[in-house]
Amino acid sequence: MKIRFATSNPYKVSEGNVVGAGFGIEYVQLKEPYPEIRDEDVSRVAEEGARFVFDRINKPVIVEDTGLFIEALNGFPGSFSAFVFGKLGNNGILKLLGEVENRKAEFISAVGYCNQEGVRVFKGSVKGLIADRKKGMGGFGYDPIFIPAGQKKTFAEDPGMKERISHRNKAFQRFSEWIVSI
Ligand code: IMP
Repeated sequence: MKIRFATSNPYKVSEGNVVGAGFGIEYVQLKEPYPEIRDEDVSRVAEEGARFVFDRINKPVIVEDTGLFIEALNGFPGSFSAFVFGKLGNNGILKLLGEVENRKAEFISAVGYCNQEGVRVFKGSVKGLIADRKKGMGGFGYDPIFIPAGQKKTFAEDPGMKERISHRNKAFQRFSEWIVSI
């Protein structure tokens, strides 16, 4: 089964396909842009994105939205992670946190699927810590500063580990299970 995945980010597609392989699903990148609505909930962003692309192409499609929620920053940058990454990057986040002891953070991923029947959203999350400095060359975005709970390395240092336990892995597991069951 092939599923269209509207995203400009090929890393997201390959992470989805690691999960899809176990379900006989191939996620195929569709470079169809969509507006990211301003909402603190990544589910709403994914939901509206999927609806927007579906309305344009009139074919079933998924959109995925991720946020990094940092506890000491009251959940910032959350659903505004793309904007903040563009403005501040990982160095800016590390600077904002400074020497703060509470390094707890959580990645939340929401996969929105839209077809003629409407939209459904599937979520996955992973808790962890913000590292004291950037580490690793793999992955993308905030991967060099995120160490998942129970691990010693950042996602960027061990992309294989990321593929197995990430927020995106969990959201795609849930979506993949559902889509093959209907
Ligand atoms: P979006 O989901 O494409 O809106 O991404 C939000 C921001 O978080 C972007 O700056 C991405 O680079 C970053 N991001 C999204 N997913 C991940 C991830 O799995 N690891 C690290 N950063 C991510």
